[in-house]
Amino acid sequence: MANRTDNTNRCSNGKKLNDGMKLLIATFVGIILGFFLGISFPTLSLTKMNFPSSILPSVDIAYVEDETPETSSETLLNTWSSRSPLHGANSSDAPHWKIWVPSNPRGAEMLTPGIIAAESDYYLRRLWGLPEEDLPVKPKYLIAFTVGLGQKVNVDACVKKFSEENFSIVLFHYDGRTTEWDEYEWSKRAIHVSVPKQTKWWYAKRFLHPDIVAPYDYIFIWDEDLGLENFSVEEYIRLIKKHGLEISQPAVESKKKITWEITKRRTKGEVHKEAKEKPGRCNDPHLPPCAAFIEIMAPVFSRDAWRCVWHMLQNDLVHGWGLDFALRKCVEPAHEKIGVVDSQWIIHQTIPSLGSQGEAQDGKAGWQGVRDRCKREWTMFQSRMASSEKKYLEEIAAASSNSTVH
Ligand SMILES: *[C@@H]1O[C@H](CO)[C@@H](O)[C@H](O)[C@H]1NC(C)=O
Ligand SMILES: *[C@@H]1O[C@H](CO)[C@@H](O)[C@H](O)[C@H]1NC(C)=O
Ligand SMILES: *[C@@H]1O[C@H](CO)[C@@H](O)[C@H](O)[C@H]1NC(C)=O
Ligand SMILES: *[C@@H]1O[C@H](CO)[C@@H](O)[C@H](O)[C@H]1NC(C)=O
Repeated sequence: MANRTDNTNRCSNGKKLNDGMKLLIATFVGIILGFFLGISFPTLSLTKMNFPSSILPSVDIAYVEDETPETSSETLLNTWSSRSPLHGANSSDAPHWKIWVPSNPRGAEMLTPGIIAAESDYYLRRLWGLPEEDLPVKPKYLIAFTVGLGQKVNVDACVKKFSEENFSIVLFHYDGRTTEWDEYEWSKRAIHVSVPKQTKWWYAKRFLHPDIVAPYDYIFIWDEDLGLENFSVEEYIRLIKKHGLEISQPAVESKKKITWEITKRRTKGEVHKEAKEKPGRCNDPHLPPCAAFIEIMAPVFSRDAWRCVWHMLQNDLVHGWGLDFALRKCVEPAHEKIGVVDSQWIIHQTIPSLGSQGEAQDGKAGWQGVRDRCKREWTMFQSRMASSEKKYLEEIAAASSNSTVH
């Protein structure tokens, strides 16, 4: 077997014994498991050892792989061969093992559909017991805050508004400090993602993939400097369901000037979906910023809307400027499904966070560089959107003119 020879050559003499012992243990565990389970060879992680199992109906092979790359060994073990004859490593000369299911997710067409787990979640599990008993409750909503330690007290107050029963909590730490949050009880069940100096949309693109957050009905992607004294999330969710809002935000009160009329809190009514702007700002009362529009400091997405919006997030445009104007592309009709909840509102405290974390360059202050990039990204996003739509429309036109020729 080529693999084994290869492996032996790569290992230094000193490592051989060690590997041999691991192999022995692996084999032993494998055999025991094989006998007891009889059917499958589950993936286990036992102190630095993995047993990724590649199981097709009649292949009785287990790979034992070291985690450290330098000693990485792909030793083929012929374990648990009692059920069917040994086939060795020749999967290629057995055409009946090939499976092709085009409806499987891309890249997984060779698997039988029943084994495919295409979606995940942020539920914490135990290391023991039965998997199906791990979760007393499965929260239906997800809240992700992008935070720095400077806003600890405010974030604590915010998070406490989201019940453990109904919410998975994700914290994105842009200052790289996570352990300091452990004094809060809720922090122990939160998902902490720590990557210094990244933006909310950078994290969202990487850690809130629609397949990962698939079980959640609504996804909140919020800033850290919001005051939630007059906000009840359960009531908020009741209202967005009632009014059919796929993309929404709570209305905003602010001591500072608010840029867009639509986000301003109205004292009457539950929600509003349109606003009067300054003359010249809206050509069409159904389009942003007069309707089909929310800001991106405290957006709430339904599962389906988020699946679309995630795809629209550009990998390199991290500030998300211009995204608010484009959200309407993801729901139809946008002026009915995007709206602002008045009776549950938030206070925007406008505390500079990431904005102050730029680097001084070319004689410009750090914050100035960040601001410039925000604006540049907005322009880039707009032009990408415009050229993408133009290209698509041209293709459609070309295709339809072809078909009329025939
Ligand atoms: C595996 O394939 C090689 C070459 O194709 C062949 O010599 C060998 O007999 C095969 N082994 C088994 C177990 O079929
Ligand atoms: C969680 O959601 C359910 C269903 O919407 C609701 O009845 C319950 O009161 C919520 N729990 C808390 C702690 O708000
Ligand atoms: C908003 O919350 C604050 C703090 O809890 C409270 O004093 C105030 O009365 C609330 N306002 C309304 C209109 O409920
Ligand atoms: C239309 O037809 C032309 C010529 O037959 C071909 O080159 C072109 O690719 C077609 N366009 C589309 C969109 O099918």
